[in-house]
Amino acid sequence: TYEKIFSINEDINNKVVILRFDGFMVKAKIYLNNNYLGEHASLYVPVEIDISKYIKQENNRLIVVLDSKEDSNYPPFGHAVDYLTFSGIYREVSINIHPLTYLKNIHIDGSMDGTVNINYEKIGTEEVHILHELFLKDELIYTSSSNNFSIKNPLLWDINSPTLYTLKTTIENKNYKEEYINKFGFRNVLFTKDGFYLNNKRISLIGLNRHQSYPYVGYAMPASIQKDDADILKYKAGVNVVRTSHYPQSDHFLSRCDEIGLLVINEIPGWQHISEKEIWRNKFYENVEKMINEEYNHPSLIAHGVRIDESQDDYDLYSKANEIAHNIDKTRQTLGVRNFKNSELLEDIYAYNDFVCFELSKGVENPSKIKKGNSPYLITEYMGHMEPTKATSDELQRIHHALRHARVINDSLKYKRISGCIGWCFVDYYTHLDFGSGDHICHHGVFDMFRNPKYASYIYLSQQDEFNVFELLSNIKPGDSPNANYHDIYLATNADYVELYKNDKFVSRFYPNNKTYSHLKHPPIFIDNLIGESFDDPRFNKKDRKKIAKLLSIVAFKGFGALKLNHKITLAILMNKYKLKYHDLVDMWNTHCAAWGGKAITFSFKAYKNGICFKEKYAGPSSQYDLKIETSKNELEVKDTYDALRVSLQYVDEFENICSYAQKIVNIKTEGPISVIGPDSVPLLGGQMSFYIKSKDKQGNGKITITCENITKTIDIKIK
Ligand code: GAL
Repeated sequence: TYEKIFSINEDINNKVVILRFDGFMVKAKIYLNNNYLGEHASLYVPVEIDISKYIKQENNRLIVVLDSKEDSNYPPFGHAVDYLTFSGIYREVSINIHPLTYLKNIHIDGSMDGTVNINYEKIGTEEVHILHELFLKDELIYTSSSNNFSIKNPLLWDINSPTLYTLKTTIENKNYKEEYINKFGFRNVLFTKDGFYLNNKRISLIGLNRHQSYPYVGYAMPASIQKDDADILKYKAGVNVVRTSHYPQSDHFLSRCDEIGLLVINEIPGWQHISEKEIWRNKFYENVEKMINEEYNHPSLIAHGVRIDESQDDYDLYSKANEIAHNIDKTRQTLGVRNFKNSELLEDIYAYNDFVCFELSKGVENPSKIKKGNSPYLITEYMGHMEPTKATSDELQRIHHALRHARVINDSLKYKRISGCIGWCFVDYYTHLDFGSGDHICHHGVFDMFRNPKYASYIYLSQQDEFNVFELLSNIKPGDSPNANYHDIYLATNADYVELYKNDKFVSRFYPNNKTYSHLKHPPIFIDNLIGESFDDPRFNKKDRKKIAKLLSIVAFKGFGALKLNHKITLAILMNKYKLKYHDLVDMWNTHCAAWGGKAITFSFKAYKNGICFKEKYAGPSSQYDLKIETSKNELEVKDTYDALRVSLQYVDEFENICSYAQKIVNIKTEGPISVIGPDSVPLLGGQMSFYIKSKDKQGNGKITITCENITKTIDIKIK
């Protein structure tokens, strides 16, 4: 039960007063000043109640009695669901005061050619004068009393330059004036049989699915942290699209996607199950309607997901859903996500969860085998439960996971009809015990639940060209693989090539593996030779050096057992020629392969793009350790709600490589008007951990002190 006592500063006489909940789980009985306002179900969409009759200027008492049990009357419930739906009022609550006549659902379409079409619902009967003012940043660029107008040469909203315009709509008569501020963009989006087009340019969509849950607090994270997720997707995963699986998500998240140019596909609440109950089906229709009305103006939004994820065909339900969607939004296509072939297509886009991927060899199914014809086609999920991988999984597992994601992305790019692929999923998420790894967690993310990267995230990050990426998918420690041999080294990078040096001696140049990944823009680089030109033993002539280097390289990666008969013959000939003894071979092995007890080696990598080295990276025996800290921001703002920020920790060696087996405890202390969300003592998982800090109700200076054994770090935080 929530209670709030409040007064209203604005005059409420002759006004319409709306109480709005952006989201609560599941249903609530609501009372205002001892009046019962009924029971309402929100789950993932807003609830608005006209409280004009019950509100007073002062001393109002609002009581909200929540029932957060899963309820089979509402989607997604009625059967099993593989994600937890957290209880509580988890989004903002507001009171909106309007004149007797006002506008609702102002929808703005801006297209590439500069036309603007505006639609809205007018509530109330009074005559009002309506004026639209168009701003680019603070500059007024157009004024119109018509709902349709056009400007010349609009700056387009695009992935790399997401220009946002602001439309200020004013209604006015002799008694009052009300203003509405909405942001939107000029852009065209279209899914076709030949892929997806943004502003008439084909873009291969590469993305991730997002659940909105967080450690400790479930769904209840304020604006900054919702935005932080969008930033992580764009700048740490480098994807160009996110699917808000499996329900409408925070408006703050979508607004941030608008600001940074991250495309969005939304989805109504649901998971596999369709109920026959009328109340359930009505809520389903309400979800479609509210989701589209609420999210309409976001230029990042490119299609409406109006079918319950992986549900069976249901003509009545889905033809009505599509009708509702198309009636509200004539500019965007609808999409339906299924997991079986030849399902009845009532939407504009056939979306398919393609879990065919087999090991490292097969990524996706040929779309014509799944749905014949010419419908637009999008892969909305893959991987996930096929290979749950933890931040704490060992290196070979994390590499395998990454390479399988690469395989699917690569294979989806083979087919022109496939608009793109959206992987399962962004971050690990809480689940019921019937799913997950016995710990209530589906470890399906390319980040863990604390938003720490797994190797797979670097495969995504390296596919974009906005900034340079070089990530080593290994700590290059032979003790981490069978027989203490080195295993192949993989680099997730958008470099043109990489040079490898061993103890400062040049080994070789390595190029993106476009044989294995012929469709990826930036295939990972495979390093399968650690000896190369670094073997310069003067005892041997040039030709023989090469031969020996090759043999040593085989041994380094695969052990002595991998030498075939022809290798052994070569070795015998060389031994005879140079009068080598067994211990000479052991010495060479120790010096150049350095696995089981040999002299430790430091490797260095130089990554080049357009002939310029953009990154030098080392890996070698670690002896010094540090805690690398990143904060999502250093200021908190006390506004409508508390604010929060993320602090991410990586326990690294002197080469800035994460020590993934560092099982250490980190203690967090706060001073000033801030506190830690969750416990103030946390373990490193896979050498990484993040935590969230929230503001209390006061402004001032805060300090976070982080201690891990003998390392202490402090961060100053301003609370404004
Ligand atoms: C899909 C489902 C997702 C998630 C995923 C796990 O079938 O749509 O919600 O459960 O499997 O890989």
